Amino acid sequence: MAEVILALDLPGGTEAMRLLDRVPDARWVKVGSILMTREGAPFVRALVARGLQVFLDLKWHDIPNTVAGAVTAARELGVSMATVHALGGRTMMEAAAVAAGGDVSLVAVTVLTSHDPASYGRAVGRREVNLIDEVARQAKEAFSAGVAGVVCSPAEVMAVRQVLPEAALVVVPGIRRETDVPGDQVRIATAREATLAGATHLVVGRPVLQATDPAPAMRGFLEEAACR
Ligand code: C5P
Repeated sequence: MAEVILALDLPGGTEAMRLLDRVPDARWVKVGSILMTREGAPFVRALVARGLQVFLDLKWHDIPNTVAGAVTAARELGVSMATVHALGGRTMMEAAAVAAGGDVSLVAVTVLTSHDPASYGRAVGRREVNLIDEVARQAKEAFSAGVAGVVCSPAEVMAVRQVLPEAALVVVPGIRRETDVPGDQVRIATAREATLAGATHLVVGRPVLQATDPAPAMRGFLEEAACR
């Protein structure tokens, strides 16, 4: 079974809480940098107080001391999962993992899905980059530095699973139903496909947020994610 994380990509805390009132089956929620910048720590505390598991997706990439401090602050807020960038390097990830201390599951973002091989190659000063190999390489490095797992697209789950131990977390956005329009997501999969490929957590946003009735939409994803 994979967990389904509802991405709270809404303009503000009021809208997010109103949506959550309509989705009683949600157990995990994702707070990204827009909502966090607008609403801050009190909003995260309110989510935790509702009994929700919070995935704080701020994609930290800074010097080790600063990232460790941010992880400590997230831990004090009661956050269950948070992201760092694998390219922040081994020392940064090790410091973050120590600060997480088993209370926060740290997952590493590898290659952003907004990159194609050319733009990624330009960013890191390399010519030909096979992105699936690069994601697998970074996943291995991140896990050996002590983080609990990675975030990757459905296209990379199998490759990541091959290089990480069974216990590693694999968090996958880009989840759609057979009938959904992809929107701006290019690499997509159904909840069933991603779960069978080895995902442990699925991130779902618009298919639930924009549903006329979000409760059955959420239940549909939860049912599919229970296929393994
Ligand atoms: O609305 P949708 O289901 O596409 O939302 C996916 C969520 O996952 C959004 O919050 C988006 O920022 C996030 N995400 C993503 N692709 C990544 C990493 C995160 O879509 N590679």
